[in-house]
Amino acid sequence: MNTKKLKKMSSITALKYIKKDSILGIGTGSTVLTFIKELKKISSFIRGVVSSSKISSFYLKKYNIKIFDSREIDSLEIYIDGTDEINDKMQMIKGGGGALTGEKILAGMSKTFICIADFTKRVKTLGLCNPVPIEIISLSYSFVKKEIIKLGGFPILRKNFFTDYNNIIIDVHNLFIQNPKKLEKQINCIPGVVTVGIFSIRTADIAIISYEHKTEILKK
Ligand code: 5RP
Repeated sequence: MNTKKLKKMSSITALKYIKKDSILGIGTGSTVLTFIKELKKISSFIRGVVSSSKISSFYLKKYNIKIFDSREIDSLEIYIDGTDEINDKMQMIKGGGGALTGEKILAGMSKTFICIADFTKRVKTLGLCNPVPIEIISLSYSFVKKEIIKLGGFPILRKNFFTDYNNIIIDVHNLFIQNPKKLEKQINCIPGVVTVGIFSIRTADIAIISYEHKTEILKK
């Protein structure tokens, strides 16, 4: 299956939600890169964007799309991002690209979170196919690892990887995510955790999911 075409279908559909002269939040990942390439074509229609990561900023600059500093912005009309998994309640696992902290901040700042994805990201239960990424402060590695094991997870350090904020990431396998909100809160409370890649409290509002012959739009 060529997911490139599906990412493009979702990206083009997302453009329809953009309002004139607005400032958008931009996520991270290969689906978002496809979206950025489409956004470039209508860049004069918007004021600019706030970026969730250094890598997205790199591409936004390459395509001459104006980037605002998030400190200058109170709220975002729309935030557009991909996902690793999304369930029927629009809860997600994100952070495969390691930009989960910036992504969660911009998702929180936005009035409408639009998730763009291909159908391979749709799941019934979160966490069965992908590990849950957690960005942590390096000092807390041993402690967080033990706490995650107590929760039934199997943490693996993401090798040779540092986040935009110079932190490390552990990818947690085998987590049984029966209650995503409870688990998100529990993990958030472990000292040393910067961000957990469960997005179940601030979920997507709209999900644009492309299949080979159709695009499905889910709304909350
Ligand atoms: C990055 C993310 C991405 O949105 C997620 O990993 C999906 O990426 P892709 O569009 O490449 O499949 O959360 O931190």
